[in-house]
Amino acid sequence: MIKLSGITPSGTAHLGNYLGAIRRWATRSEPEDLYFVSNMHAMTTKHSAEELRLLTSHQLAVLVAAGVPKEQLFVQSDLMREHMALAWILECTCTFGEARRMIQFKEKSQGSASVRLGLLTYPVLMAADILLHGTARVPVGEDQNQHVELARTLARRFNTDYGEVFVVPEAVLPEAGARVRSLSDPSRKMSKSISDDGGTVYVLDEPDVIRRKFRRAMTDSRNEVRYAPDEQPGVANLLDILAACQDSTPEHVIQGIGSYRDLKEAAAEAVVTTLSPVRERALELLEDKVELAQIRQEGADHARKRSEERLNQAIFLAGLV
Ligand code: ADP
Ligand code: TRP
Repeated sequence: MIKLSGITPSGTAHLGNYLGAIRRWATRSEPEDLYFVSNMHAMTTKHSAEELRLLTSHQLAVLVAAGVPKEQLFVQSDLMREHMALAWILECTCTFGEARRMIQFKEKSQGSASVRLGLLTYPVLMAADILLHGTARVPVGEDQNQHVELARTLARRFNTDYGEVFVVPEAVLPEAGARVRSLSDPSRKMSKSISDDGGTVYVLDEPDVIRRKFRRAMTDSRNEVRYAPDEQPGVANLLDILAACQDSTPEHVIQGIGSYRDLKEAAAEAVVTTLSPVRERALELLEDKVELAQIRQEGADHARKRSEERLNQAIFLAGLV
């Protein structure tokens, strides 16, 4: 049962990405699973080439530093020919209505006069990412569930119309409440797509920057350390973060914490302890361009080899050879 997931370098990785995705990829992966930096998905709106290049390296370095096995990692554009070849076949399998119905497309295109075609077709590229590698399970956030559904639909349709070649994938969604929220506005999730530097803790933030962000975290005026996500979302978020970093539960970590100040300090220290080794290793990798380039090359070669036969078969079944 191959698991595959991607992370788009539309910004730098943050604590939410780490606790909600990257750490699981590192600790729960089976040898056949694959993870990748979906840099081709970061250009559906106008982008800076230089920044994309840099963010792609950062993302790869963070994944390696977090312990995602290198041989199971690749950068999407290193397999651009493969992913795009299948994306075209799947674009010709997908209807315009299906693409237009994607919630993310509707939301992101609204009010924009210059919507790129890529914003409409990127879920089809995502289907290609998934189907190319024989993926059975796709760990993603809720917002990507509809795209995995589309991948299912396209896999079934192609299999029926042209011949069995694709595994029909299934989304694996995070448990309810597994969302890290912004430190400055606990009604929102921590996200790299929103500019919220004070509320977002980045994996590469220096320890003192992390401590400062926690000191300024928004709580409430009750001055009561309780785990009540609906009434005290800021406090609950800090408890959730502390618990996640210590592999514990909010109910357990709350013991012994008497004030908001103690809670902020405890959460900050837990995050610093969790992220420091990842940050240090990632910075080392970013210094040593040769090692990172080699990891990238080997990961790409490995992923390409694994996908070759399936792609050739799809090209054949579609009547292209
Ligand atoms: P972002 O909103 O920061 O752009 P993505 O949509 O690229 O994040 O998500 C990448 C991965 O990180 C997904 O698996 C998603 O579920 C996870 N993730 C993103 N934000 C959070 C968060 N605040 N808490 C927990 N997991 C998150
Ligand atoms: N679109 C996903 C996101 O923004 C990232 C992604 C691209 C992905 N291709 C994928 C996730 C394939 C899972 C499988 O989060």
